[in-house]
Amino acid sequence: MKIALTGTPGTGKSTVAALLRDTARIIDLNRSIKEKKLYTGVDRLRNSLIADLTKIQSYINSITTNIELLNGLIIIEGHLSHMLRGIDAVIVLRCHPRVLEKRLEDRGYTRSKIDENTQAEALDIILCEAIDEALDRVYEVDTTNRTPEETANAVKEILKCLIDGERVPPEYLPGRIDWIEEAEKRR
Ligand SMILES: Nc1ncnc2c1ncn2[C@@H]1O[C@H](COP(=O)(O)OP(=O)(O)OP(=O)(O)O)[C@@H](O)[C@H]1O
Ligand SMILES: [Mg+2]
Repeated sequence: MKIALTGTPGTGKSTVAALLRDTARIIDLNRSIKEKKLYTGVDRLRNSLIADLTKIQSYINSITTNIELLNGLIIIEGHLSHMLRGIDAVIVLRCHPRVLEKRLEDRGYTRSKIDENTQAEALDIILCEAIDEALDRVYEVDTTNRTPEETANAVKEILKCLIDGERVPPEYLPGRIDWIEEAEKRR
């Protein structure tokens, strides 16, 4: 089973993925993009790489086929992971924009990068993209009032339901989070 663990930068994907290493094989998509040169160029304005989705897809297919044949659980973590084909479910990590702002400030991000990301989080951008790609297989975990361990346990709870073919608890279904007021304030 292939799971995308996605969310706005700073929501905690890498932190949570590190706590899931005993549960699944983890693929760090951002690292793969850099190391395997799965990009078309550099966005100088944002100081980031322009990802090449076609190359990323081929690379992911090539490294996951064998694991899938062995019935393994694979988590692909990164803010583009929900754009991949052949994903069984998408888990979107969320964080209240004001808390996210603090996390990104602690990282030393520039004001414009902080504003871009907190606004994207308030507007549910990644969630909407994920729903466009995988409609009824998208789940959300709000990290705002959870510790990383609690978030990892919530992800494990979702994974267990998916593996056992059980219904995922309603608290993880999309649509419960509404931070639109934060987007209005941040305009
Ligand atoms: N409940 C939580 N779950 C995950 N991380 C949390 C949580 N609460 C606080 N944090 C903190 O938030 C930060 C998240 O950073 P992390 O690098 O994991 O984000 P990311 O989503 O991987 O970002 P990027 O897309 O830039 O790679 C860490 O410093 C982590 O300790
Ligand atoms: Mg990360």
